[in-house]
This record gives sequence, structure tokens and C-alpha cells, in this order.
Amino acid sequence: MKTGKPTRSTAGLVAVLAGVVALVLIAVVPRLLQTGGQAPAIGGPFALTDQSGRPVTDASYRGKLMLIYFGYTFCPDVCPTALGNVAQAYDRLSPAEQAQVVPIFITVDPDRDTVGQMAQYVTNFSPALVGLTGSPEQIKPVLREFRVYARKVEASGGSYTMDHSSVLYLMDRSGKYLSHFDGSASADQIAAGLKKYLAG
Ligand code: NI
Repeated sequence: MKTGKPTRSTAGLVAVLAGVVALVLIAVVPRLLQTGGQAPAIGGPFALTDQSGRPVTDASYRGKLMLIYFGYTFCPDVCPTALGNVAQAYDRLSPAEQAQVVPIFITVDPDRDTVGQMAQYVTNFSPALVGLTGSPEQIKPVLREFRVYARKVEASGGSYTMDHSSVLYLMDRSGKYLSHFDGSASADQIAAGLKKYLAG
């Protein structure tokens, strides 16, 4: 049986190769993850209009953490749930903490979400909630910067809904990406996350 020897050495070779591959993965993967977290920036400048008709930019909120959610006022369930949780989380902060956070709702449906529509909508949730809209030309680059997915879906009777991603972005005091929550995060989870960064 001459095949015994080669089989053993093949097995040994495979073991050595597996070891090398494992070492390479251990050495390289954390670095890949690190650069993956640093290189593609999320967020960026915006120039929009708030629910009182005031023109604002990202710089209007410097010095505060921006908690940003993208959606639309005609959304049947996902947006109201997420914004309700944001409002509850904000209520759980102390007044000193609240002064350092601005919850912002940016529309993915600028055609229907006029300034007046936004004004009516955001007051349903919290007096602190800022609602931002603009022309489609103003909204489009913001969606791209935050890598928000939004697509119009035709419904019956000439109406439509918007398919959209549901993520809460937490931006730091200089407007840079800090962290994010899943859009289905509970008020407790959002409040705990905010407090963590406010404490630091
Ligand atoms: Ni929605």
C-alpha cells in the first residue's frame, strides 16, 4: 500500500495550509473591518427647509447630536412606529441631555411632504422633532449621502407608497457619523444608546 504515505503527507499539507489561512485571516480581517468602518463615510451636508419654513443646513445643528430618520408622512406603519419610539426615547432623557440632541425626520417623498404637511405631522410625535423637506433636487443627494433606499410604488387609484430603508442615524456634534440604530429599535434601546454617547 503505497498510497498511505502520500495521503498522510497530503493531510499534513492541508493542515499546514489551513493554519496559514487561519493566521492570515486573523491578521487581515480586523484591519479590513476597520478600514471598512472608516473609509465609506455615511452622511454629509444638506440644505433643506424645516417645518416652520426656515431654510436650514446640517451646520444649523452643530454642537448637538443629530438623530436622523428618513421616511414619509403618508407611511402607514413603519415611520409612525419609528418616530413614536424616537419621541419616547427623547422623553426619557434629562433636560440637560435633551438640550444636546435634535431628533430629525427627513422626507423621502418631497412631492407630497410639503412644509405644511411636515408641520402637521411632526407635532403628532414631539415638539422637539424637526421635519425637513425640500425640492426633489435637494432631497436626492441627501438620500445618496446617507445611503437611504427609497422607491415609489404605484398603488390603486393613482396613489402611491414609498418603499424605503428604515435606519436611525446618530451623527456627532460636528455632523459626522457616530452610530446607527435599526429602525425597529425600541425607545429603551434608543435612549440607552443616546445616553452612552452623551455621557462620553
Ligand atoms: Ni415609512
